[in-house]
Amino acid sequence: MKTTQAAIIGCGTIHTLHVEAIQSNPACQLRAIVETDAAKGLALAESYGCRYYADYREMLGDNEIDVVHICTPHFAHKEIIIAALAAGKHVFTEKPVALNPGELKEIKHALEGATTRLGVCYQNRLNPSSQKMKALLQTNTFGKMLSVKAVLTWSRSHVYYAQSPWRGRFATEGGSLLINQAIHTLDLMQWLAGGVKSVKGVVESSFLSGSTQAEDTAIANMELANGARGIFYATNCNTIDSPLLLEIHCENGLLQLHHNNLWLISGDKKDFLASDEAPQEGQKCYWGSSHQQAINNFYSDLQNKNNHHYVDIHQAEISLRMVEAIYQSSITRNWIEI
Ligand SMILES: NC(=O)c1ccc[n+]([C@@H]2O[C@H](COP(=O)([O-])OP(=O)(O)OC[C@H]3O[C@@H](n4cnc5c(N)ncnc54)[C@H](O)[C@@H]3O)[C@@H](O)[C@H]2O)c1
Repeated sequence: MKTTQAAIIGCGTIHTLHVEAIQSNPACQLRAIVETDAAKGLALAESYGCRYYADYREMLGDNEIDVVHICTPHFAHKEIIIAALAAGKHVFTEKPVALNPGELKEIKHALEGATTRLGVCYQNRLNPSSQKMKALLQTNTFGKMLSVKAVLTWSRSHVYYAQSPWRGRFATEGGSLLINQAIHTLDLMQWLAGGVKSVKGVVESSFLSGSTQAEDTAIANMELANGARGIFYATNCNTIDSPLLLEIHCENGLLQLHHNNLWLISGDKKDFLASDEAPQEGQKCYWGSSHQQAINNFYSDLQNKNNHHYVDIHQAEISLRMVEAIYQSSITRNWIEI
């Protein structure tokens, strides 16, 4: 079987995880990288032993390339996805798939005529704790779900925003905390509950207002699709990156993800269920450790048209709509249907 040839566009913080995943998959080869910062791009291409392009459009003309990974700032996602699909490439993009639901609609339109696939990186769905929770909930092991509570308290510094000026601006990031960091948590909440009906929330700008135009803190309540309540708090103003606290309250037990360990609490009993692996070198704990799995799943699905394990545009749309709904609700003070 021919080795799948990959290219990565955008070589900043996250691209290293994509490089590692491609290089450790014997069915793939990193053929090219694209980076607008020429000095950085040339040096990286040399170290990876691959081609360098300054402009992604030139790379798309390389007929040998099968899959394009998008690791650029958010504002570039839509344009590159649409161009890559038109060039007949499969696309694996970092979240969020687009800046807002309007852009997402354009991508959906482009996908209608495409023969290739688009996968979106929501790797935290593949964490052992997420998979365990999903499996237990699908078999209705603990009775009706009553609520999902998520508390995300991370730390993003003024330096973080200064080193990549696209961050913290609506025009280039599409928001801030919600669309960049907390979108994973919103996605997990709706995915575990089988979807979301409506959202009411508020965004605030406080300690990081000098660095980001958008919110650094958000709260929201949700009506989840299965009738359970969603209770959500997130901030980038903490002084450390605390692991996500997630609690799922069911009629006959509480599933609790705390310090990356999943527990079942039932009455006085507390049973250990799963642990999310410690991140490897070069990975940050708050990214989770499932990038490689997400990328491997996508490549494996490309070998078989009937397989569909990756997060597609329809799945990726839900959390993007939740972000938009929290912004809208913060202005109108109403519940917003998803
Ligand atoms: N899944 C996760 O957990 C996770 C974690 C971090 C970042 N991300 C996502 O990864 C993406 C990149 O974030 P980052 O923090 O690595 O950004 P970054 O600012 O560190 O790096 C972006 C890189 O893209 C380059 N670039 C910009 N426009 C380009 C273009 N048109 N063509 C080629 N290169 C271009 C920049 O020069 C820079 O090197 C974002 O979508 C972000 O949300 C995902």
